[in-house]
Amino acid sequence: MVSYSTAMTTNSLISPSITSILPGGAFCRLGILASGSGSNFEAVAQAIKNGQLNAQIQVLIYNNPDAYAAVRAENWDIPAVLLNHRDYKSREDFDAEIVRTLQKYNVEWVVMAGWMRIVTQVLIQAYTDKIINIHPSLLPSFKGASAIEQALASGVKIAGCTVHIVRLQVDDGPILMQAAVPILPDDTTETLHQRIQIEEHRILPAAISLAIKAE
Ligand code: GRF
Repeated sequence: MVSYSTAMTTNSLISPSITSILPGGAFCRLGILASGSGSNFEAVAQAIKNGQLNAQIQVLIYNNPDAYAAVRAENWDIPAVLLNHRDYKSREDFDAEIVRTLQKYNVEWVVMAGWMRIVTQVLIQAYTDKIINIHPSLLPSFKGASAIEQALASGVKIAGCTVHIVRLQVDDGPILMQAAVPILPDDTTETLHQRIQIEEHRILPAAISLAIKAE
């Protein structure tokens, strides 16, 4: 049973409450797309290991050859596949190869965990309503690649992160879960991002669990 209450923690506000969602849910085979560090990928792997998320990561797909996410995948003994977008003629060709790879690994749900590519209909139609994204702002505010810089420049006092179902428009689609993070007077992009990431690592596995249960 999913509760839509909110949960207050020491330095953040999460909605809906994650305590009422974890653990459990139907088993699900995940494919993760990551472009960089992969800390969110690792948070999902850890949540599965802890029994908080009833899933298995079938494959990590990464697009930058030096992405640290690939090292994390190796440490977790999870297959990692490099698909370099620079090798493809169009976004659609690139997404078609992603879909082929996801299908080869029997992926049911796709998680964009720091995936810095614009996705096309090719991917969205292959996994309709089964692609999840994490974004470092309280959507619909501050879409795009510089969300944290935009939040700091705007003067808002509350930042945060959002997990949502992916639609064709960038950083758009039904919201699964959000966490709010206060902006401190001396915050830089780095310090704020660090505190937002703490919340990302909590809500991403919880939101995946929520989405799988709602299916
Ligand atoms: C996260 O802050 C995520 O919100 C954004 O990119 C970052 C990826 O971080 N889309 P990591 O690679 O998971 O550490």
